[in-house]
Amino acid sequence: MKKILAFAGSTSSTSINKKLAAFAAENLENTSFDVIDLRDFEMPIYSIDEEENGFPEQAKRFTSLLDNYDGFILSLAEHNGSYAAAFKNIYDWSSRIEATVFRDKPLLLLATSPGSMGGEICFGSWS
Ligand SMILES: Cc1cc2nc3c(=O)[nH]c(=O)nc-3n(C[C@H](O)[C@H](O)[C@H](O)COP(=O)(O)O)c2cc1C
Repeated sequence: MKKILAFAGSTSSTSINKKLAAFAAENLENTSFDVIDLRDFEMPIYSIDEEENGFPEQAKRFTSLLDNYDGFILSLAEHNGSYAAAFKNIYDWSSRIEATVFRDKPLLLLATSPGSMGGEICFGSWS
């Protein structure tokens, strides 16, 4: 059975994107899944100076966690027309540890917001 990791690009304790990611995971057939919270992976804001001090343990833990799954569900919170800084930060650190952050595995990318565009702008800023 395929294993999926679902999470939100948000550190809100009441994240609507975490709820959406979990809902999507629950509705996949023939898969098992885990849901994680980026609040459990707090780390400094990335800079080359910080990196010279070594990788944060939480960045290493997040990156190695991704090895355990066959695919991912990520729902991005939208802040000021882009994805939230919390996700950008963990993505930046992870990309320094393993350049292909999602290991070329399938990624279901979602976004939701209370705004009229429903998180649509997030996708434009996704590289
Ligand atoms: C700093 C900040 C900027 C935001 N900018 C946008 C925005 O550009 N577009 C939008 O639709 N919603 C915006 N929102 C509303 C968020 O989409 C909303 O807070 C949503 O619940 C965030 O997702 P989350 O609950 O998963 O953290 C913003 C919220 C904050 C706090």
